[in-house]
Amino acid sequence: MSLLRTKPINADMYRDTGLRRCLTAFDLTLLGIGAIIGAGIFVLTGIAAATQAGPAIVLSFVVSGLACAFSALSYAELASAIGGCGSAYGYAYAGLGELVAWIIGWDLILEYGVAVAAVAIGWSGYVNNALTAAGVHIPAVLLNTPGHGGFVNLPAALIVLVLSGLLVIGVRESARFNAIMVLVKVLAIATFIAVAIPNVHPVNWHPFMPFGWKGVMGGAALIFFAYIGFDAVSTAAEEAINPARDLPIGILVSLAVCTVIYMLVAGLLTGIVPYATLNVASPVADSMLRIGYRWASAVVAAGAIAGLTTVMLVLYYGMTRIFLSMSRDGLLPPAFSAVNTHTHTPLRVIVASGLLIAAIAGFTPIGDVAELVNIGTLAAFALVCFGVVILRRTRPDLERPFKTPWSPLIPLLGMAFCLYLMASLPLVTWLRFVIWLAIGLVIYFGYSRHHSALNG
Ligand code: ALA
Repeated sequence: MSLLRTKPINADMYRDTGLRRCLTAFDLTLLGIGAIIGAGIFVLTGIAAATQAGPAIVLSFVVSGLACAFSALSYAELASAIGGCGSAYGYAYAGLGELVAWIIGWDLILEYGVAVAAVAIGWSGYVNNALTAAGVHIPAVLLNTPGHGGFVNLPAALIVLVLSGLLVIGVRESARFNAIMVLVKVLAIATFIAVAIPNVHPVNWHPFMPFGWKGVMGGAALIFFAYIGFDAVSTAAEEAINPARDLPIGILVSLAVCTVIYMLVAGLLTGIVPYATLNVASPVADSMLRIGYRWASAVVAAGAIAGLTTVMLVLYYGMTRIFLSMSRDGLLPPAFSAVNTHTHTPLRVIVASGLLIAAIAGFTPIGDVAELVNIGTLAAFALVCFGVVILRRTRPDLERPFKTPWSPLIPLLGMAFCLYLMASLPLVTWLRFVIWLAIGLVIYFGYSRHHSALNG
């Protein structure tokens, strides 16, 4: 059946695609950390602890972390064997057929797009707080979207446009900016940890599991958002100097570092203040204030702003590369496949999607549907795990510089964890997800299928 047609795996991972190969394993790891540490830890951890899991939020991080670790191993295998900046979309195209590939690609473009717009709104809130503290007041009409009593969320729209300018200039420049911002946020987290350790009151950890296991799982499904981003490393396949070796390093090391950081922060946060008080917009910075460390609170807020900036930058970057890959395959209009010969970046995709995301961040209540990002990403992760199992059977000969250990056990566990977390998400999220996929299918059958490069 034509929907199951697969794209041949191009053995030459190092072909010239017009993009510039300049990223090292270290750059890729920093890109991963850049995309991972952001709103999840700085905002959602407090909310999830207060409303879902209590101090057992640490266990929620373990559950989500395992889902991600299993998926990351699968990502690493496919990234090293197949490569391509289309990431999970490209792996599915090689292993599971065009329709599944389309669904994943469509899913990922929108996941990353929604994530960037939603994080931009969070960024705007943090920056506004900082400006207010410095005596600068932005009128409410320029801070809120029309549905929320304003006209435009100007800072949110502006930061997206600034990042699109950076991405246009070049991937090396973007990676350098990312590295500096990652340093700022990691230092901020180190400050939090150092200040928090001597201020822990173990009594705050009791009761440990006030909402039972259901709460732990609900918390895990929510804070899964905190881990999203290591997958974006795989979209750098065509800009990595040695993708077969370095993509697995970037994916696995960034995830491991962030997992350790998350466990520490979650444990300490619920140890220094009662979990019930954490349902606020900036729980980590607030907790520092409440134990009397004003300066540390300011440092954490600066780290949060840096963190949210890198998350947007790297997810936006990843989105443009997947878009590029789908356009090259004919599933999206060919106008978007062009790579600018001067900047070596896909300029048109960056500018077009930047304008769209800025408009969404500035004028719509996208923050209200941000949890869609989780369900879509979990679905993509589950399919990547499945892809490993299928490709091991259909292409046992494929050279795999990195192999997932204990396959098919690990990929199957990855699928099980992801599906279980999906099942823990609210019904309304499922409904939105189905609508989203339905729109994608209309586009696929109305346009993509007929324009696919495989037709020719
Ligand atoms: N992991 C990213 C964040 O927490 C998406 O902001």
